[in-house]
Formats: sequence, C-alpha cells, structure tokens
Amino acid sequence: MTAKSVATTPFPDQKPGTSGLRKKVAVFRQPRYVENFVQAIFDAIPERAGATLVIGGDGRFFNREVVQTALKMAAANGFARVLVGRGGLLSTPAASCVIRKYGAIGGLVLSASHNPGGPDGDFGIKFNTANGGPAPEDVTAAIFARTLALTEYRIVEAPDLDLDAVGETCIGAMAVTVLDPVADYLHLMRTLVDFEAIRALFAGGFRMRFDAMSAVTGPYAHAILEGELGAAPGTVVNGTPQPDFGGHHPDPNPVHCHDLYDLMLSPDAPDFGAASDGDGDRNMIVAPGLFVTPSDSLAILAAHAHRAPGYAAGLAGVARSMPTSRAVDRVAASLGIPAYETPTGWKFFGSLLDAGLITLCGEESAGTGSDHVREKDGLWAVLLWLNVLAATGTPARDLVHAHWARFGRDYYTRHDYEEIDSDAAKALMSGLRAKLADLPGQRFGDLTVATADDFRYVDPVDGSVTAEQGVRIGFAEDARVVYRLSGTGTAGATLRVYVERFEPATGRLDRPVAEVLASAVAAACAIADIAALTGRDAPSVVT
Ligand code: G6P
Ligand code: ZN
Repeated sequence: MTAKSVATTPFPDQKPGTSGLRKKVAVFRQPRYVENFVQAIFDAIPERAGATLVIGGDGRFFNREVVQTALKMAAANGFARVLVGRGGLLSTPAASCVIRKYGAIGGLVLSASHNPGGPDGDFGIKFNTANGGPAPEDVTAAIFARTLALTEYRIVEAPDLDLDAVGETCIGAMAVTVLDPVADYLHLMRTLVDFEAIRALFAGGFRMRFDAMSAVTGPYAHAILEGELGAAPGTVVNGTPQPDFGGHHPDPNPVHCHDLYDLMLSPDAPDFGAASDGDGDRNMIVAPGLFVTPSDSLAILAAHAHRAPGYAAGLAGVARSMPTSRAVDRVAASLGIPAYETPTGWKFFGSLLDAGLITLCGEESAGTGSDHVREKDGLWAVLLWLNVLAATGTPARDLVHAHWARFGRDYYTRHDYEEIDSDAAKALMSGLRAKLADLPGQRFGDLTVATADDFRYVDPVDGSVTAEQGVRIGFAEDARVVYRLSGTGTAGATLRVYVERFEPATGRLDRPVAEVLASAVAAACAIADIAALTGRDAPSVVT
C-alpha cells in the first residue's frame, strides 16, 4: 500500500468559521474539496508523524465517506494511529473526551452541529487540538492560509475500512482502532455525577423524556439514561441516528424541538424534559410548564454543581459568552468566584479551562460544559440536572423559581434574522459601530442608553486580542441589547439580536417574557434600524 500525492488547486472558500468549516453538502462533494481541507489541517500539525488522531462525526449524510477519505489521508500523512468511533460516530463531547483520554494530537470532528443534514443539508469539518477543544484562532488561520497555497494532497490507495465492528485493524503502517463511541464517555460521566442517586430517582417513579432528535446522542442516551440509570424504556425518543435527522433541524430549542416542548407544556408533562442537537454538544432543558433558558440553566447548575461528586470541591470560576445573560455572574458573585465574559464560540473557553481559571461555562446558544472535556456537552448537562434534582429532591420547576427568588431573574430572548443579504448585514453592523459614541443618553421608550461598545476580548491567559465581537448596548434600567452576526450560517447572513432585562428578587418574577422585553425589543429595532436595512419587519426565529 503506497501513499501517493495528488495534484490539486486551492478553493478560495475554506475559511473556518465559529466552529470549523461548514458548507452545504454539495460544496463538500466537489472533487478534491474534502481532501484539500483535510490536507490543510494535517499540514497545520507539524508534529503529526507517529502521533494519534481521533476521527468521528455526528452520522449525518456524507459522514462515512469523509471518515474513509480522512483515514486514508491520515495513513499517507504519517500518523501512527487513528481512533475512530464505530460507524464513524462520535458525539462532539465524546470526541473531545477520547482525544484527551488517549493523548491524541487532535481530532477531526465531522459535523454541522444543529444544521439540517441530508444531500441538500449541511456538512462540516472541525479540527480539535490535543486539549480536546476546537482549534484556536491562530491554528484555524494557519489552516486557512494553507488551503490557499495547496498544490497537492497525500492519500493511500486502499479499500474502505469496515467501520461497523469494534476492534483493531490497520491501513498500511497506521493502526486503526474502531472504538465503541459510548464507552469512554460513559466512564467519564460516572466520575462526575452521582449515578446511584439518579438511579434511585428513576426507581422512585421519576419520569423524563429525552429527545435525541434522530441525531448522534441516541445511542448515548439509550445506554446511559435507560441502560445505566434505569429510566423507563421509551424515555429516549428519536433515539436512532439518521443521516438526515428524519428531515428535521436538530437544534434543541422550543421552535425546532416543539414535540418535546409541547408535551412539557401540556398537562401530561413528565417530571423533566431534555434534548440534544445533531452532534450532542447542545442541550435543552424544560421543566413541566417552563422552558429553562440556557442562560438560566448555566446559572442554576453553577449554584448547585457542588451537589455532584465531580464538583464537590466547588468551582474555580465560571465563564459565559458575551451575549449570554448575566444570570451566572450573579451566582459567581455570591460564591465569591470570578466570572469571565468571552466572545461567542466554545474555543474561547479552552484557555480558561486549561489554565484552571474556570470549572463551568456556557452560552445562550444552548451550550453548557465543564472542565471534563473541551467542548460543550449536552448529555452531561442533562445528567448534572438530574443529579441536582435527585440531590435536592426539588421538582425542576420549583428549582428554577427558587433560583429567581434568590438571585432575581434575567428575562431573556433572542431574535434571529436568518438568510438576510450579507451586504445589508454588514452595513447594519457598521452603521451601529459608527453611532456608538452618540448613543449614551438617548432615550428609546422607557429605556435610556447608558453604555454602548463593540465587545473586544483580551484572553486573560495568553493576552490574545479578539476584536469586533458584537455591539453591546446597556440601558440605565438594567436592560441590555446585543447585536452580532452569526458565524455558523451557510447561506447569506444571520443577524442575532439578544435582549435581556433584569428583575430583582423582590420584583415580579413570573411575567410573560415577551411582555417584559417588549420595550427593549422595540429599542433594539429602532437603534439598528433593522426593518429598513434588512427588509424584514419581524425576526425569522424567536427563542
Ligand atoms: C456553535 C459554537 C458555539 C456558538 C454557536 C453559535 O455551536 O460551538 O460556541 O455559540 O455556534 O454561533 P453563531 O455564530 O451562529 O451565533
Ligand atoms: Zn452542536
């Protein structure tokens, strides 16, 4: 079996975004497109000779083909060993776990996360480094630079590998281990959460529904919730991964996971509802009659994490992405621990986690995680919630209300304007930036602008600077609006407008969210002139 070099020419559009390279499947299926990007990644790992690489994906359409290509290219590029999940599957947090556990130099995570799959859907390739986390900006910049300079890629000619049987095999001199995708992850979960307590909870009749959205967490949830923890059969729904996610948009929010949401808001609601996304890193938590915003979920987990064995010693600190509500900051203040504010994108948590500055972190975009891996982790968040519910003996809804009664409530909503014209989106953001200095003091309805800036992040560990991460408007009435453009879309641009308003613990904590935020939403539209500049008089998705 010999490695060969194949001549190629660069594609101009292989710049990784918030979370790796994400494009329509049709783009990835162009001849040499995958090969070029994978070669650029390998070229950005100078120490790859003799090293171990992890490969796995969320099982979406094209996953298996790309796994086979990547394996043959890894063999031709000098890797000594590849660990690949059975069936080419690894949830994103499980990939992170496997990279760390086996000392791999990094991993290829094949996923477009919560974006739809299938021949007309999206695909993605992300490179994670040896810490198990998404490659930092300097590495993705090097990969992009390399994509523009490629003249050849290297691959061995070999038959496709049988990915469906766990065991050891090889391609030429490179060893290949096909792993059970669940085993290492399950092992890690056992060290973090109290399986005994959760088992007793289910044995006592606690009922739950977990919606795997026909995506990668099905096998994990079946094995852990129903298998290990004794949840009733049928607790996990949509638990068989499908290449097109059953035609759905595997994003765990009330809009795309409406079956679960509707059930939880109905009189038949079980005690607890949860879901995860295409690649298993996002989560949705719903109590009976109450959707728990990701921002609140992070804050509640931070307040109760010490009840789980993995966090019994307390938290070193917490972090949230800038558009995430400030609810977790309030918990951190009461615990006397630092709270960090990072740009959107999980990779920014990596250096804080590696340096031991934080233990928990999360984002408004349904991501919650801890120092156990370097990705957000949907099922872990669900297990930690179950641990907290078991340890406190408090129903989920009451737990949320008790949290607000102690810390106050950050009413929160996000308005997305999807697939708007890219130039219009850029014009809107630059228009906002141009008027930042004039905004303070201006009144919009019952709100007065107190602060206006463009978020600029200085990493406290390595001093690296990331500018232009979103426009923040703070109001004197303790409300906030944030504008940024999504970095994960694959068509046009998506404007995200994040709106929040704080109600102190002594205030009214159970009002309709839309009513509380109406004036801040109106201010957000007026300040950015959204309707005129985008041609949209309403957002496409409200969560
Ligand atoms: C991915 C990243 C997250 C990020 C999210 C939203 O899921 O892993 O860290 O928060 O995308 O990104 P976007 O740029 O679309 O708002
Ligand atoms: Zn995801």
